[in-house]
Amino acid sequence: MKTYRIGVLGGDGIGPEVAAEAVKVLRKAQDGFAFEFVEYPFGSDHYLKTQEFIPDRAFEEIRTLDAVLLGALGDPRLAPGVVERGILFKLRFGLDLYVNLRPVKLYTEKLCPIKGKGPKDIDMVVCRENTEDAYSGEVRYEKKGTPEEVAIQEARYSWKGCERIIRYAFETARRRNGKKKVTLVDKANAVRAHEIWRRAYEHVARDFPEVQKDFAYVDATCMWFVKNPESFDVLVTSNMFGDIITDLGAMIQGGMGLAAGGNIHPGRVSVFEPIHGSAPKYKGQRKVSPLAAILAGGMLLEHLGQKKAADRIEAAVQKVLQSDALPSIDASSGVPTDKVGDMVVQAL
Ligand code: IPM
Ligand code: MN
Repeated sequence: MKTYRIGVLGGDGIGPEVAAEAVKVLRKAQDGFAFEFVEYPFGSDHYLKTQEFIPDRAFEEIRTLDAVLLGALGDPRLAPGVVERGILFKLRFGLDLYVNLRPVKLYTEKLCPIKGKGPKDIDMVVCRENTEDAYSGEVRYEKKGTPEEVAIQEARYSWKGCERIIRYAFETARRRNGKKKVTLVDKANAVRAHEIWRRAYEHVARDFPEVQKDFAYVDATCMWFVKNPESFDVLVTSNMFGDIITDLGAMIQGGMGLAAGGNIHPGRVSVFEPIHGSAPKYKGQRKVSPLAAILAGGMLLEHLGQKKAADRIEAAVQKVLQSDALPSIDASSGVPTDKVGDMVVQAL
């Protein structure tokens, strides 16, 4: 029987609580294959105690795993970005996880904040480039500390970087049973460097004549997410725009408590996480929804090639959401984190 070795990095705040529920559900989903979980203590607490994020030995071990499940990172005791760069970006850039795959899917109409829209209208997937843009460049200062100070951080887009994420998006559109459409989201009308995205898109699109081409500026995309979400199928965009539009995407699918993502390099160890943050004020209170982490576990299974088990997890989450068991999926639901995990296990 195939045994998958899965790293579990709970991280900060509510991360360990939600990751534990995802592990519980993954254990239950074992069917003709098995999991061995490798727990890692890394996060802000560990950093404050030891001054290390992910030691080299552990990082080399992570490279040999089949996948990683990540809880959340971020801690008010550290300056913004410190633990994110130390751990999250170390994984994303260090493992070259160039796809940040973020499905936006409404599971039940009652969760949708947009009047008149239902599950058939909101079902898209955002392919966010995950290694470049203003995320990866060094910051540089001119005349620091003077009234003439300037801070500079370049947004860098390589041909290779654009090409591979766009190709992944077209392949996703081809595989999905959707509208077979790929929308390139950029700001080519203002940012001249975005012209490379258009060129790379045209280059890749030639290999996918059955997929419909589509272009949208990022500001208009935000408008259409609310006005005409049904017009989207697969979207492809840069790191920063992908970050922003997927928070909006999370809201139209019912909230951050439901939005999952994968940091993927096809065929290699990849990292799956809820896209919400560490919500430090709820740490240890068993109040938050583990559903995003559980859905991330489902995406992890799909990445491993266990599509049937992945679909079962998604169906179990959908069943819980469609039942009246959960009054809401935010911290005010009154249903403890581990009880929500139990409901999903039950539905499985
Ligand atoms: C996300 C997060 C991260 C990002 C933060 C924590 C650096 O917002 O995964 O969307 O901007 O990529
Ligand atoms: Mn984000």
